[in-house]
Amino acid sequence: MIFLTTGAVVALMAGAAGAQTLGPNEGRLLASNCMQCHGTNGQPRVGGIESLAGKSYSKIKSEMAELARKSPASEPDKEIMIVHAKAYTPAEIDAIAHYLSGQ
Ligand code: HEC
Repeated sequence: MIFLTTGAVVALMAGAAGAQTLGPNEGRLLASNCMQCHGTNGQPRVGGIESLAGKSYSKIKSEMAELARKSPASEPDKEIMIVHAKAYTPAEIDAIAHYLSGQ
């Protein structure tokens, strides 16, 4: 059985509707997807994956936007990340960047 919090439902609905602004709870929820590779709160436990902790809001936003514009085949070492970045709306990337830059 899958339980969704009110925040999760709001985030999913907002993503589908392409809403302009998401709150901190949505940012935290969406950023939890990043942590399986980039580590809890953006601090990787193993080498080879970039730390997201300490990156500024604008840095995360611009890097995600740049990744989303690329073709996955163009950079094999970032293929997974390029595909991942393409999955988010601009409002979702904004919320993720807000959350992660506060870590
Ligand atoms: C399945 C694993 C995986 C997940 C999940 C993931 N990443 Fe990544 N990410 C990578 C890999 C691999 C790289 C490329 C190697 C590196 O730069 O560390 C990368 C690189 C990046 C970079 C640097 C890009 C560059 O041009 O140098 C940013 C920023 C980033 N990820 C942000 C995120 C954010 C934000 C999320 C969550 C929305 C996320 N990642 C989720 C694996 C992942």
